[in-house]
Amino acid sequence: MTEAKRIDGTDFSAKLRETLALHVSELRDRHRVIPGLAVVLVGKDPASQVYVRTKHKRTTEIGMTSFMHTLPDDTPEDEVLTLIAGLNADPAVHGILVQLPLPKHIDTQKVIEAIDPAKDVDGFHPVNVGRLAAGIDAMVPCTPLGSLMLLKDHLGKLGGLDAVVVGRSNIVGKPMAQLLIKESCTVTVAHSQTRDLADVVRRADIVVAAVGRPEMIRGDWLKPGCTVIDVGINRVELPDGTTRLVGDVNYAEAVQVAGAITPVPGGVGPMTIACLLRNTLVACCRLHHLPVPNV
Ligand code: GUN
Repeated sequence: MTEAKRIDGTDFSAKLRETLALHVSELRDRHRVIPGLAVVLVGKDPASQVYVRTKHKRTTEIGMTSFMHTLPDDTPEDEVLTLIAGLNADPAVHGILVQLPLPKHIDTQKVIEAIDPAKDVDGFHPVNVGRLAAGIDAMVPCTPLGSLMLLKDHLGKLGGLDAVVVGRSNIVGKPMAQLLIKESCTVTVAHSQTRDLADVVRRADIVVAAVGRPEMIRGDWLKPGCTVIDVGINRVELPDGTTRLVGDVNYAEAVQVAGAITPVPGGVGPMTIACLLRNTLVACCRLHHLPVPNV
């Protein structure tokens, strides 16, 4: 059997960022508007620091303005809420992202709900969650949006396909299921209490793995020829003491069975930041009552 096609998120996201850069320069030249993204990081979580640095770099690279707010670990909740109120009112800021997880003394939901839904480029505010569930225009969370772009690029129309989403988080699993329903897939959401998970996954034409457990999904769980989107990014230690990034799917096995699969790294990961920039551009156009580009 031939090996699965490798769905290249690095390449796709680079092209998307090039397209976004063209729209940004047009906005600047024709309308004197520069999209601005504010990122708030509270504390020193090492993974979050890396993500936030990359977001800053990618934002400025395409000509947007990046506003970075790095706050100490013990910042009181009130101070974070006051900062968000200021960003909501700032006309130069079109997108606001508060990096998660937040320190334990801060109520994450309260912070999410403090963000103006029009600037909620993460799509986590209940207004956007509800709009997505209702199938109307919403800010869509970046990782599921990027995953859907890769799926449509590979498969074209998704209508009628059986999709299994493994994982029910608010950030990935639930919004992914909503997006696939909107594409007329038959969607199953599986999770830690699903019985006979392998049997459920085996029915799927599309598998989206978002459980955060290294290489949990095995090759013999897959329907031959299916398309696998691996959202997992897990760092595992090897016997020689070095570390390596792996997904939620056992790639070496899956590549022998699937029709196409996203690698880790280089699959969904780079799509997330590109979609954050896409959402910031869309928010900016809407806030300025300008036509929203079809990206
Ligand atoms: N932490 C991990 N993923 C995300 C994300 O998509 N958005 C935010 N704000 N924080 C995260």
